[in-house]
Amino acid sequence: MKNHKNSRRKFLQNSAKLSAGIPLLSACSFKTTPESAPAIVPSDKPMKILILGGTSYLGPHQIAYALQRGHSISTFTRGKTKPTVHKELFDKVESLVGDRNDNLEALKGRKWDVVIDNSGRQVKWTEDTAKLLKDNAEMYLYVSSVSAYYPFSDFGPFDESREVRLTPPEGKAYENNKMTWDYGIMKANSEKRTREIFGEDRSIIIRPHFIVGPGDRTDRFIYWVDRLAKGGEVLLPGADDRRVQYVDVRDLAGFMIRLLEQRVSGIFNGSGPGFEMTVPQFVHGAHAAFNSPVNFVRVKDRDFLKENNVFFLCPWILPNEDVKGMPHTSIEAAVAAGLTYRPLADTIQHLYNWWISDAVPQERRTNLATGENAFQGREAAVIKAWKDQM
Ligand SMILES: NC(=O)c1ccc[n+]([C@@H]2O[C@H](COP(=O)([O-])OP(=O)(O)OC[C@H]3O[C@@H](n4cnc5c(N)ncnc54)[C@H](OP(=O)(O)O)[C@@H]3O)[C@@H](O)[C@H]2O)c1
Repeated sequence: MKNHKNSRRKFLQNSAKLSAGIPLLSACSFKTTPESAPAIVPSDKPMKILILGGTSYLGPHQIAYALQRGHSISTFTRGKTKPTVHKELFDKVESLVGDRNDNLEALKGRKWDVVIDNSGRQVKWTEDTAKLLKDNAEMYLYVSSVSAYYPFSDFGPFDESREVRLTPPEGKAYENNKMTWDYGIMKANSEKRTREIFGEDRSIIIRPHFIVGPGDRTDRFIYWVDRLAKGGEVLLPGADDRRVQYVDVRDLAGFMIRLLEQRVSGIFNGSGPGFEMTVPQFVHGAHAAFNSPVNFVRVKDRDFLKENNVFFLCPWILPNEDVKGMPHTSIEAAVAAGLTYRPLADTIQHLYNWWISDAVPQERRTNLATGENAFQGREAAVIKAWKDQM
């Protein structure tokens, strides 16, 4: 607990430095400026928004943005998942209870201006709610995923005009990676049914990349925030030109609400960070948020990394054939439609503040550092093995 407080103090001191304008990346500058995240002012046309889901990760950030814009919100869930961020806002939210499997009663006979389908995890769920709501809402926003493009077997760019698979392939490729295929195909079919039922001009499809920020229930991106805060010898896997993509949950949430306000239909990737960021740029930029001394140990040898099971340290993934192009999704359409990006420093600061707060159980932090599958627990041994064979 003491260390935890110390690192928080160090971090807060350094935050002050960062806000004084120390540049984060020497090799490239952020395209975004503080003006790209303008103060949120109330909209002159308040909307009634229904969020299917809304209590997990993305939802609370959508709600925070939408309430500031003066909109009113209803959520539809089973009443099981409790928000871990923006909890205080849920007093202002109408909470409807049912089940997307077999109980949509609470949605019947009601009207909303727009619907956001966050929890669309089965094609039938989206089909049923789109059919039920098509005459009772103007627009339907379906939260898909860049996984709709899976497999990423080339370097793209993966833009919205690219054909997506609606059926699984035959044979081993599918059998070996069934879960990933099924998720992408489910998202692609859910998108299709949304557009068929609501009509293309009343549908918005968002395909997010890795969503990062407070409330994340995975430890994928947080791995780096936690690791860089601790400092010391840090294993940095992958080639210098390997790209990194992710999107700050607040940028994504605000983008979605603004599209709905403006009734802009279409398909948009939800990727960032707004320019072509490489692995070294990411780690150096992210580390600039901390005072911890760091010595990066670069390991580019794929065979060594594979042998030592250093594979999935997000936001980048070592380039297996099926995911090598994943950090090459196009951002053009979304940027033209108004997606803005806050700087990496802001994302890291915000996420770390949450990570070390009481909103995250200590057990989760401990597990990331020393749990059974924690890479941090074996990182020093992998570094030693690397040095020994040099
Ligand atoms: N995280 C990422 O990096 C990422 C990347 C790309 C795309 N996405 C997509 O982003 C979307 C939002 O993700 P998320 O993590 O915020 O939410 P999520 O985990 O997909 O959805 C959880 C929400 O759905 C509700 N829910 C679950 N089962 C339900 C059921 N049978 N009936 C009614 N409600 C149900 C939950 O409340 P109850 O449990 O109380 O019912 C909760 O509010 C997802 O569609 C995901 O596929 C995420």
